[in-house]
Amino acid sequence: MSQVSKAKLVAAICEAGGFGILAAGGRRPESIEAEIRSTRALTGENFGVNVVTLDQRIHQQLAVCVESKVSHIILGGGIPNSALIATAKSNGAKVICFAPSLPIGERLMRAGADALVVEGHEAGGHVGPVAAAALAQEMLPLIQRGVLVFIAGGIGTGEAVASYLALGMTGCQLGTRFLCSVESEAHPATKAVYLRAASRDAVLSPQLDPRLKFIPVRAIANVATEDFIVRQRELLSLMDAHAISQREANVEIEAFWSGRLQRAMRDGDTSNGSLMAGQSVGTVVREDSVYDIISELQDRAATALGRLAA
Ligand SMILES: Cc1cc2nc3c(=O)[nH]c(=O)nc-3n(C[C@H](O)[C@H](O)[C@H](O)COP(=O)(O)O)c2cc1C
Repeated sequence: MSQVSKAKLVAAICEAGGFGILAAGGRRPESIEAEIRSTRALTGENFGVNVVTLDQRIHQQLAVCVESKVSHIILGGGIPNSALIATAKSNGAKVICFAPSLPIGERLMRAGADALVVEGHEAGGHVGPVAAAALAQEMLPLIQRGVLVFIAGGIGTGEAVASYLALGMTGCQLGTRFLCSVESEAHPATKAVYLRAASRDAVLSPQLDPRLKFIPVRAIANVATEDFIVRQRELLSLMDAHAISQREANVEIEAFWSGRLQRAMRDGDTSNGSLMAGQSVGTVVREDSVYDIISELQDRAATALGRLAA
């Protein structure tokens, strides 16, 4: 999670028996290197680094991960080609890619991916159109051939983890629940809004016109959600007046969210900042430690799987 998945949180997840992933998207290469070093100072366990393939600095960011001999690189935000996957693997890292459909999952495996993650419409942040449960079933042919597939989006309880494991998933990726953990450095005022929110409060950013092409974002509704509509109207007017190109408008629209996320996570601006959250936010009612979250997920998943076996 951009602005959230930093050394302290990632290390705590790894130390508690999970697999933490640092967010490198939108960051300067030098700061990614420093964050990797900080994480290694806090844990001896392996962790992953998530890079966003659509990021302008993807090649420099990836170079830092490769040189730092990161054990796992997760390629999100776009479909990587085989050359990018080969670069990511060039120093021994395992590479996990986001697959929005079965055909793309098959293509990514042929292109050299070691495992896949599918992310449902319920997830926080930038999302695709298909629900997690539907995507999980779509991936069954790959799972039956032994491909490792992780699932993300809307997961907040051990029971949900158990249901996806029973379906054949290798594991579950949770975002929002950890954003609200004690070790998360998200601003306390922001965390407080998440703890009060219901699942229906995590809404999708509306698209006013098909000429504005962006990946929809799921976030808790606030002033920023309204501002996003206003910004789209402004950009559409500028396009109609031929003052900017469609490409320029789309770059502007993407830039909207990155700045707003920082305002929420770092500054605690819960009105104008972007409160990216999955529909799982309804299951998050307390600010627990990472250790307590993972222990609870494990215990409740084990109980649910035991019930199924019985
Ligand atoms: C604040 C926030 C920032 C996120 N940033 C990223 C990111 O930089 N890269 C990425 O691949 N996914 C990102 N995600 C998606 C998460 O990795 C994860 O798949 C998602 O949170 C799962 O849904 P959940 O929040 O319902 O658990 C982000 C999610 C949130 C809530």
